Amino acid sequence: MLTTIIYRSHLCHDVPVKALEGMVAAANLRNAEANVTGILLFNGTHFFQLLEGPEEQVRRIYHDISQDPRHYNLVELLCDHGPTRRFGKVGMELFDLREHAREEVLQNVLDKGTSPYQLTYNDRALQFFRTFVESTEKGNYYEIPPAESWEFVPTTISDELGPYKASTASEYTLALQPIIDPLAQEIIALEALIFTHDGEISNTYFEGLSGDDIYEIDLTSKKVAFEMVRERDLRGQILSVNLLPMTLVKIPHAVDYLLHEIKINGLVPEQIVVEFTEHEVVSGIEEFTAAVRVLKSAGISVAIDNFGAGFAGLQLLAQFQPDRIKINAELIRDVHKSGPRQAIVQAIIRCCRSLEIVVSALGVEKAEEWMWLESAGISHFQGNLFARPYRQGTPSISWPEKKELL
Ligand SMILES: Cc1cc2nc3c(=O)[nH]c(=O)nc-3n(C[C@H](O)[C@H](O)[C@H](O)COP(=O)(O)O)c2cc1C
Repeated sequence: MLTTIIYRSHLCHDVPVKALEGMVAAANLRNAEANVTGILLFNGTHFFQLLEGPEEQVRRIYHDISQDPRHYNLVELLCDHGPTRRFGKVGMELFDLREHAREEVLQNVLDKGTSPYQLTYNDRALQFFRTFVESTEKGNYYEIPPAESWEFVPTTISDELGPYKASTASEYTLALQPIIDPLAQEIIALEALIFTHDGEISNTYFEGLSGDDIYEIDLTSKKVAFEMVRERDLRGQILSVNLLPMTLVKIPHAVDYLLHEIKINGLVPEQIVVEFTEHEVVSGIEEFTAAVRVLKSAGISVAIDNFGAGFAGLQLLAQFQPDRIKINAELIRDVHKSGPRQAIVQAIIRCCRSLEIVVSALGVEKAEEWMWLESAGISHFQGNLFARPYRQGTPSISWPEKKELL
């Protein structure tokens, strides 16, 4: 299948531009052997390359290119399939944008095209060319330093979490995972995750239950969470708990129940964030929004968990605005390398900024993901890079510290 990959990257500072000629000559031969064609643009700082050919070969060459130490911050912008090559003649031609008059540069690039049909701007790939040549997206090219430029130093946080005590509820154990602001070295909130002997109370646990049992168990497990939190001295930390949206709808007085449990366990509503997963809301959005109003009037904050994982997210945001949203881990994974993920995350950030909703990122595992997200404007994070869910032993957070690179 004819496959096209487009990426952009940044030339390393210690690589002389002159060295590119030799690299291009060698690459040209390798591409010709693999039946891969394309074009490489260079603007003095950034590369922009289109590779076309059989899927396997294009992916292999792109993989080799992505390991090349002469450039960094590779971001895959497009991976698509089509009937014909756009640049069929050239194995790999370097096109230095600086050598052409600005107004002619795009036409000069298009003149290299070999498509039987005239290359037109209806083509997504060519739209990417235009954007690169005209530098309209340059503000979104974040310069991410190498992962090794940060050290993640585990620091004990018993003071904030209180000493560990085994739970008195034999059915459940509680794990706490911090949501943090890594640069301010601040704990923003603790998410309470409840585990049964079979694993975490989550969607899979509830799938095994039938009828309205699910909602009863969901609600009473919050009582357990608050009781277990009382056993630790959380010193006024914000506590996040997960709730199935329909629990609020199906169980009358669910909010009163929560408020009562919050109170008798020495907590206050303003300290509690209730997180809902977006895809579960779809079936009863009107009733759900009404129930959320009651929750909010009691002082409890509301978050949408795993935003972007389901298909109700934007509709939900139009209907009611939570205090926070947590971007789903799947969108966060390798965000520093993926143009589509970057575009989606940036759109979520822009939208939430307009609505004054706090955004946090879930499932952060790599330093580069975190650095990219910080550059994009997110400052609250949850993920194993910083802290795993804490069940027992000494709780700690790995705060990032900038290393002096020699
Ligand atoms: C911006 C840039 C574009 C490159 N384009 C290609 C290319 O199209 N084809 C290719 O075989 N190598 C290309 N290379 C070189 C590869 O990264 C790599 O050096 C080559 O595949 C040989 O790999 P090896 O040294 O591991 O054998 C490019 C390198 C850079 C920095």
